Amino acid sequence: MDGFVFVTAEYNHSIPASLKNALDLAKEPWNNKAAGIVSYGSVGGARAAEHLRGILGELQIADVRTHVALSLFTDFEDGKIFKPQALHLKNLNGMLDQLLLWSHALKTTR
Ligand SMILES: Cc1cc2nc3c(=O)[nH]c(=O)nc-3n(C[C@H](O)[C@H](O)[C@H](O)COP(=O)(O)O)c2cc1C
Repeated sequence: MDGFVFVTAEYNHSIPASLKNALDLAKEPWNNKAAGIVSYGSVGGARAAEHLRGILGELQIADVRTHVALSLFTDFEDGKIFKPQALHLKNLNGMLDQLLLWSHALKTTR
């Protein structure tokens, strides 16, 4: 894969242990690839997303700026059924556009 979208929940202001474990297991295969982030939580999973960015830097994954931050209160029915608000579409498209650009660009460096 040339690029990834990481979808993360937030646990105690960080990413789930399962995602950290998956990132830690592979090292070089992550290098010089691109990633976008979709997070969810009480405040859009923003704190988990920021932690994730620090980890991606160490793995030499280039994370794009635009990120989709979903609220457990307004983007899920009863906190369970996914019903995203339309306002997220702009960020989703922006994130994917940038991710495609960087994924293709970084491919030429590997
Ligand atoms: C131990 C624990 C810690 C949590 N910490 C946070 C938190 O810091 N911020 C937040 O927004 N939600 C927090 N939550 C709520 C979870 O993000 C929420 O349950 C979410 O739906 C989990 O997603 P998942 O079931 O896909 O893993 C926490 C939940 C648990 C059980």
